[in-house]
Amino acid sequence: NTPVRDRLRIAIQKSGRLAEPARALLASCGLSWRESRDRLFCYGESLPIDLLLVRDDDIPGLIADGVCDLGIVGRNVLLEQDGGRSGNGRPSVYREWRALGFGGCRLALAVPDSWDWQGPEQLAGKRIATSYPALLSRWLEEQGIAADVVLLSGSVEIAPRLGQAEAICDLVSSGATLTANQLKPVMTLLESEAVLAGPSTEFDPVRGELADLLLRRLDGALRIRH
Ligand code: PRP
Ligand code: ZN
Ligand code: MG
Repeated sequence: NTPVRDRLRIAIQKSGRLAEPARALLASCGLSWRESRDRLFCYGESLPIDLLLVRDDDIPGLIADGVCDLGIVGRNVLLEQDGGRSGNGRPSVYREWRALGFGGCRLALAVPDSWDWQGPEQLAGKRIATSYPALLSRWLEEQGIAADVVLLSGSVEIAPRLGQAEAICDLVSSGATLTANQLKPVMTLLESEAVLAGPSTEFDPVRGELADLLLRRLDGALRIRH
């Protein structure tokens, strides 16, 4: 029961690492907007393509619920929430339309510097703190390892020092956060970057045509960049 709309709505991060590059990329596709006073909604002027500025973690849900048609979000966030919504062999809720070439990072397993890392089996019976329970649990299952997943929404990297967990599973970009917390990355679970995501279902004809137009322009813009 998606509301009928003749405009396309794209969710992007309001502030944070993906916010500026996401907007710049869409502007390079020829989009321009008029901002609302609260700066949460940008009304498309050159094309009927509007922006909704939100927290990155809310973007998959907004797409799944049909509130937004597309979103620019980290693959890590998308797959984590897809695992929560679909999972267990059920079909994916989302489709990754394009990888966008910015916001590169990896979801990594990290252990204290002092550990002599031998391999994943060392994690058996240990507690691992993460904000990515679905992705971590699936990986542990694939490895055949029974460990406790400790869910934290932030500051995951201090969990070992606080005695909440022995290891962590978190995003690593420059590696500075791990280093500052005397942790070292030992396994990569996922390579991530910003992606343009949409629902796994088809758009209605009007929004489908707008999405096609946007994708053509996006492909042109991405080709120039790389
Ligand atoms: C991520 C991650 C680490 C940090 C790693 O958080 O959770 O804290 O970046 O980056 P580094 O390797 O360059 O130090 P971020 O602040 O991006 O977002 P969040 O608030 O959603 O956790
Ligand atoms: Zn976030
Ligand atoms: Mg963080």
